Amino acid sequence: MINNNSKNENTESTENILAFSIGDLTFSSPIFLASGTAGYGYELENIVDFKKIGAVITKGISLNPREGNPTPRIAEFTIRGIAVGLLNSIGLQNPGVREFTKSIMPKLKKLPTKIIANVFGEKEEEYRKVIEVFEESENPPDAYELNLSCPNTKKGGIEFGVNPKSVEKIVKQTRKSTKRPIIVKFSPFSEILPGLISIAKNEGADAYTLTNTIPAAVRDPKVGFFKGGMSGYPLKPIALRCILEISERFPGIKIIASGGVYLLEDVLDYIAAGATAVQVGTGNFIDPQKSQKLTEELENELKKQGKTLQQLVSSGVISQNSSFTSA
Ligand SMILES: Cc1cc2nc3c(=O)[nH]c(=O)nc-3n(C[C@H](O)[C@H](O)[C@H](O)COP(=O)(O)O)c2cc1C
Repeated sequence: MINNNSKNENTESTENILAFSIGDLTFSSPIFLASGTAGYGYELENIVDFKKIGAVITKGISLNPREGNPTPRIAEFTIRGIAVGLLNSIGLQNPGVREFTKSIMPKLKKLPTKIIANVFGEKEEEYRKVIEVFEESENPPDAYELNLSCPNTKKGGIEFGVNPKSVEKIVKQTRKSTKRPIIVKFSPFSEILPGLISIAKNEGADAYTLTNTIPAAVRDPKVGFFKGGMSGYPLKPIALRCILEISERFPGIKIIASGGVYLLEDVLDYIAAGATAVQVGTGNFIDPQKSQKLTEELENELKKQGKTLQQLVSSGVISQNSSFTSA
């Protein structure tokens, strides 16, 4: 059932200072393309050097096709006319896993990077069913990211990700369906995250994406309110807090950061807080080559410091608040 023919040349170099693994899977760079923010990935083939990107995470894939939400699906969060964040309510438009494995996966598997399928279910059992279709196909992905955090659907997503029983059931069921790494993507609710992650860990999850977008709303006096998941700059301190809480509580845990990654300093902040990898999302809309540039910048920075990626992970945890007052 497991297809191991998916060898990509950009991996397994022991000398690669950027390399890291989740389970048996080794990534050549800790910079990933975030789900839903880079088309299906292959559209960027002639623009992006995929050898410099650790993984492409697909758009959320469900069992049956989904048309997504009516338009408008995107609005900006502006302060004094300057866009600082993005709200989206796409509603997980996708062709369904069967069509996806036939028409899109073959194109993705040609890219010299790892492919992570972002999996979504309206019902708890659907996560397992989607993975089963992938596993039985000719082109399974290298790993799965369970979307337990989409804020833009009537059923599923965030509804499951805040419910310990659902988290337990979904991770237990999906763990039985695949030997590939399972990454669970949560919402940025730092108070409940430790309990949820503890459950997912017990059920065999390999890593955690922290975080998905945060439910938010903006108002345009002429048009009205727009509700969606907020991404971009305002998400970064919220996601950073979640990552700190989790890396302190679960030393050695594999965390993939997501939220407002634009600059090398964002990458370094997340790694210092305990993330092993980071995803670029909204930043792709500003510059689709941002991820490959960040890989180059991180490599240069590590060489300058004479360190490997692994040596920087969690390196900032003990010094938090050292020069800040807590008033
Ligand atoms: C337009 C858009 C579509 C998205 N679609 C998905 C999706 O299908 N599945 C998912 O798990 N996350 C989805 N996300 C969330 C991103 O993958 C990412 O976690 C989030 O945007 C935070 O990162 P950022 O601040 O770098 O954008 C989407 C985000 C945006 C902006």
